[in-house]
Amino acid sequence: MIDQATAQRIKDAADIVEVVSDYVHLVRRGSNYMGLCPFHNERTPSFSVSRKRNFCYCFSCKKGGSPVNFIMEKEGLSYKEALLHLAKKYGIEVQERELSDEERARQSEREALLVANEWAMKLMEQDMRSTQEGRDVGLQYLTQRGVTDEAIKAFHLGYAIDNGQHMVEEARKAGFNLDVFKTLGLIGTSQQGREYDRFRGRVIFPILNNSGKVIAFGGRDLKGGLAKYINSPESQLYKKSNELYGIFQARSAIVNQNKCFLVEGYMDVIGMWQSGMRNVVASSGTALTDGQITLIHRLTDNITLIYDGDAAGIKASLRGIDMLLGHHMNVKVLLLPDNDDPDSFARKHTPEEFQKYVDEHETDIIRFKINVLLTEETARDPQKRIGAVNSVVESIAHIPDPIGRDVYIQECAKLLNVTEDSIAQSVSRAREILIQKWKKERQWGKSGTQHVADDGQQDNGTPVQTATVLTTGVSAQQQQSYAGDLSFRPLELPVIKYCVRYAFLEVFQTEDGESMIDVLEYVSQELEDDNIVFSVPEYRTVFHELQRIRPEFAKVLQQRRASLEEEKKKKMQAGIEEIATQDLSVNEIRIQEKRLEEEIEAWAHEEINDFIKVWPAQMLASHEDDNVRTTATVLLHEKHQLSNIYASAPGNETEESKLDRLVPRAITEWKGEILNNQLRALLRKYHDTAATMTPEEEEKLQLRLNSLMKLRQRLAKEIGDRTLLPR
Ligand code: UTP
Ligand code: MN
Repeated sequence: MIDQATAQRIKDAADIVEVVSDYVHLVRRGSNYMGLCPFHNERTPSFSVSRKRNFCYCFSCKKGGSPVNFIMEKEGLSYKEALLHLAKKYGIEVQERELSDEERARQSEREALLVANEWAMKLMEQDMRSTQEGRDVGLQYLTQRGVTDEAIKAFHLGYAIDNGQHMVEEARKAGFNLDVFKTLGLIGTSQQGREYDRFRGRVIFPILNNSGKVIAFGGRDLKGGLAKYINSPESQLYKKSNELYGIFQARSAIVNQNKCFLVEGYMDVIGMWQSGMRNVVASSGTALTDGQITLIHRLTDNITLIYDGDAAGIKASLRGIDMLLGHHMNVKVLLLPDNDDPDSFARKHTPEEFQKYVDEHETDIIRFKINVLLTEETARDPQKRIGAVNSVVESIAHIPDPIGRDVYIQECAKLLNVTEDSIAQSVSRAREILIQKWKKERQWGKSGTQHVADDGQQDNGTPVQTATVLTTGVSAQQQQSYAGDLSFRPLELPVIKYCVRYAFLEVFQTEDGESMIDVLEYVSQELEDDNIVFSVPEYRTVFHELQRIRPEFAKVLQQRRASLEEEKKKKMQAGIEEIATQDLSVNEIRIQEKRLEEEIEAWAHEEINDFIKVWPAQMLASHEDDNVRTTATVLLHEKHQLSNIYASAPGNETEESKLDRLVPRAITEWKGEILNNQLRALLRKYHDTAATMTPEEEEKLQLRLNSLMKLRQRLAKEIGDRTLLPR
């Protein structure tokens, strides 16, 4: 564990220009630096580094962030590993939190296991080359299958001698405690208590984790025995479902090519690796898990699943895809010709041919699913057809982004020859169910602020305050589906963006005009007034996080102000001395001093202003929560489409200079859409139930509709008014 203070020290020390310079040649451009993006291939630089903000960002592929982000991305490390990496670079001694006895015991057990595995791997690598049996059996097999020397070395392939006692004896000689080997499943104990080698006469595939540590082995049978592979058991080192074979060897290729191939077996990874496709990992014959996806997703958004072209391969390809879609990943699938697996295919074709095959046959996963499921047979059988359509709908519902969903809804409707509306409805129903499920699994943020009236009725027809309508107008049930409805994302985006960029900048006057409030406070009040929360979970988390760091911000701002006073004094002193050296009249001296004072004031003001913007941004962008960090990084850099009226406004007003108009407008637009939604729901209800309503019920509904309409007019006017900027 890295304690908080040390983590902060590392973040403070890490200078983005220095960190990036280890990987990219940077050239100064004004106050920033530019270079060729290390995350994708390009010829003109679009990678920008700002020392002042301690950020980097690629305008083309949109990757970047704080030094911690950069290292995570570039080295494919976890948050903690990235911090350790930076600590090493800056010579910061990491005071790992004092471990409890139990933790220490676990830690040293882990180390003992790693040492033993490493030793065993080397032993088996060596034995394959330096013993007769190793060469005749192990090496011979690999060579015959076309495995190159380079691949044998890169994957540390080895051979386990077949006499049953070899590793036992060698380990004893080397002074190891054999219990460790038993835990690792390298050595077993017979019923008579005799120790024996578990891997015997097998070719050995060591499994390395993300940072290159040996955590397990797979041993392939060479004699036609019953068990084709035996694998290490799970241990403190090895949780099968969180690891991918080949990840260590593939890591940098995945990052550089921004794509990952996923195959089934050890030999497939090696075969493809040899043919130049090095961004490849294997799930080792099991269904893909969340943990494995996270491992890949840290490196890229793009994944292509490769399967054999037979029925089993096709079936396998449909497993786990919904999960991948739910992870915001772009999933493609590649079917190989019948009778080929990636390994055999790679061997039969040149790397160029393989690449060409990929380009021509890679299919978008949902399109693939539609094609596979909606065969002529299913089209004829209504029962099967329904099942197939439901399955496709279920997949579409997993896509987080509404535009992505729309594209598939259209596609699906066309292929099935049904209306888009009917598919869209099924998708949104499926999505609601999904969201309920996700919510149960994972409670996002606090729900305390979402108090909502029970019956959702507002009875009088007189004009009402926005606040009351929005609060009482949403039933608990509606509120829930609203809370998960990502169609509000585009409207929430500008609001959260202003919060992230300018949280503590004071640009709004209080109603009495007496004091100023900052952007975050203004937005908080507006949302509270109408009892609204961000529906996008990441936005909600970031928003809470900003509110949470407010007290700390007040403290550091005070410190910054104090240190600035000192700096001002020093500057003043230096300036006065400078003036004194000139040959000036008393009057001229007075004028010069006045000017100096003004300059220093302006400088200090600018410094504070910067600090106010930069501090919260840095806190978020180097936050330990992946979600907060990623979301904030994107929001800090997102170039929001300015509405035309602003784009054509005279002068070059900056975003910052017109926050007092931009923020209220963004909020009003968002509220307007919520209102529209409610109106639509009400109208639908009216249509659906008008025939069966009592006159009283109908009147009630009418009144409610009227009040919402009026409110919408008001909002529209407000939005309209703001649109008319002074020319
Ligand atoms: P395969 O049977 O396709 O093995 O299983 P392979 O590695 O491609 O071997 P060849 O090409 O037939 O020689 C795919 C993967 O499933 C896991 C292994 O990770 C294997 O690479 N597996 C398979 C096991 O763990 N145990 C088994 O008994 C079989
Ligand atoms: Mn195979």
